[in-house]
Amino acid sequence: MKNIRNFCIIAHIDHGKSTLADRLLEITKTVSEREMQAQVLDSMDLEKERGITIKSHAIQMDYEQDGEKYILNLIDTPGHVDFSYEVSRSIAACEGALLIIDSTQGIQAQTISNLYLALEHDLEIIPILNKMDLPNAMPEVVEDQIIDLIGCDRSDIIRASGKTGEGVEEILRRIVASVPAPKGDPEAPLQALIFDSVFNPFRGVIAYFKILNGSMSKGDLVKFVNTKKEYDVDEVGVLRLGMEPRKMLGTGDVGYIISGIKMAKEVKVGDTITHKERPCDKAIEGFEEVKPMVFAGVYPIESDDYEDLRAAMEKLQLNDASLTYEPESSAALGFGFRCGFLGMLHMEIIQERLDREFDMNVITTVPNVSYLVHTTDGETIQVYNPSGLPSANKIMEIEEPFIRAQIITKSDFIGQVMTLCMEKRGLMTKQDYLTAERAELTFDMPLGEIVFDFYDKLKSISKGYASFDYHMIGFKPAKLVRLDILLNGEMVDALSSLIHFDNAYNLGRRMCEKLRELIPRQQFDIAIQAAIGAKIIARETIKAVRKDVTAKCYGGDITRKRKLLEKQKKGKKRMKQVGNVEVPQKAFLAVLKLD
Ligand code: GTP
Repeated sequence: MKNIRNFCIIAHIDHGKSTLADRLLEITKTVSEREMQAQVLDSMDLEKERGITIKSHAIQMDYEQDGEKYILNLIDTPGHVDFSYEVSRSIAACEGALLIIDSTQGIQAQTISNLYLALEHDLEIIPILNKMDLPNAMPEVVEDQIIDLIGCDRSDIIRASGKTGEGVEEILRRIVASVPAPKGDPEAPLQALIFDSVFNPFRGVIAYFKILNGSMSKGDLVKFVNTKKEYDVDEVGVLRLGMEPRKMLGTGDVGYIISGIKMAKEVKVGDTITHKERPCDKAIEGFEEVKPMVFAGVYPIESDDYEDLRAAMEKLQLNDASLTYEPESSAALGFGFRCGFLGMLHMEIIQERLDREFDMNVITTVPNVSYLVHTTDGETIQVYNPSGLPSANKIMEIEEPFIRAQIITKSDFIGQVMTLCMEKRGLMTKQDYLTAERAELTFDMPLGEIVFDFYDKLKSISKGYASFDYHMIGFKPAKLVRLDILLNGEMVDALSSLIHFDNAYNLGRRMCEKLRELIPRQQFDIAIQAAIGAKIIARETIKAVRKDVTAKCYGGDITRKRKLLEKQKKGKKRMKQVGNVEVPQKAFLAVLKLD
């Protein structure tokens, strides 16, 4: 135990976490050069393409120093706000953290909030300036920021480059010297923290854990404290490049357990594993049920594909417990599902996986957050679908979820950032200067205003220089209404959205304008109206067109004609017939693209 070092990496997206991790694996010969593909830690194709570590993993390295052998466990953490709970559990499994800062960029919001998490858990922080090979590195400036933030000495900061390998040996030496060995009592009852899980089609759900006390062996009968389920330990082992089974793992070890678990839902990140006979007396603190934050309807484009979509959802949920779904029907779109996601990135990932892994073409409706509605009957209901909002006379009060947002920006952009946050009904609660050129702003804002396009807007007004992180702080009363859209007098439920009353008129008008652009002209006039209850608040008209697609092929070449018609049919595939109007898929997300 005294020669184990468990550590994670805290870094903002693109600051070079994966590249540096690769160098560590190389130097410790955990991965031979032949096996070394760039970024071994990112296994999903999608992750590689997006360049984001979506699921966290762990990997064990051997390292020898002055004749002493050490085991280093690197616990990888995802770098996106949608997955911050997983980050907190990974941090809880470590004794140390490498704080990696891109020396050309400086400290970003994500880095700070994860750093606070690490400090809360008393992790030893090793500050590293990365990308020192780049000509625009500004080590002194960024060192000042780091010193300000964690109060270390300048000489504590390691200058490194994942690209050239500079500083990497020193990082390893520092891990051994300053990260404490895990504590814990090997004789105590088993207490292991689950910090991640993956789904394997052959072995079922594999949980990754760190043992805080006691030990776990193959053949043991264990219990997951929060889910209260019991399992036989079919296999335990450590994670090298692949899984390596062991007879037993002891206190301080990081490893995996396989026990025939079929559903991702049964393994909850943050849960405690203990023995059935001789259990530990309490669960490890900090467990939370992961709750979806963003909800949207997902419908097959071809209604015949509904059953296939259901099967795809089931499969996706097997390996992604944070995805929720339930059947929903829409007058406009037919049968589909209301799905819950951790955030917008998660939603995009699911949409892409449906497309790639299941070849499912789906329409996603306008996403919304979930609201609490207090009714005149004294009930409180959770509303996560525009159609679930009770009629106005039944509503006493509506509450909406609020977040606290941390934004770090160059001072030049403070004005624009404030304007944006105020447009999104944000209230500034704090303003700190990290350096003369960099400020940290704290806002309380409605989650509903930021889940959609806030991050993109923030990036564009700050020319990419602002960073953003948030956490939930609770619910606050809101003046919320349902904005409906009518096409030729018929309400299209899939186009309804829940929005703040103060924005309703403006949004209604812009929705109508946008839909006029997006819906192609058809052979009759189309009236587009926005309404709150029975009141029409905006209107646009699409004028009829009579187009004869075959007119171009005068003459009688029937095959050419057929080809053209065929082509037109294909082009229509991403359209949905709503009443007598054909609506293209992108119209259903029009509300997100208003500018
Ligand atoms: P996420 O997984 O998205 O959080 O990103 P990451 O922090 O793991 O960053 P990654 O290692 O993928 O590196 C981001 C980009 O920076 C890539 O294009 C790397 O090639 C580049 N990069 C990483 N380290 C260095 C470095 O030391 N020097 C230079 N010049 N480029 C680097």
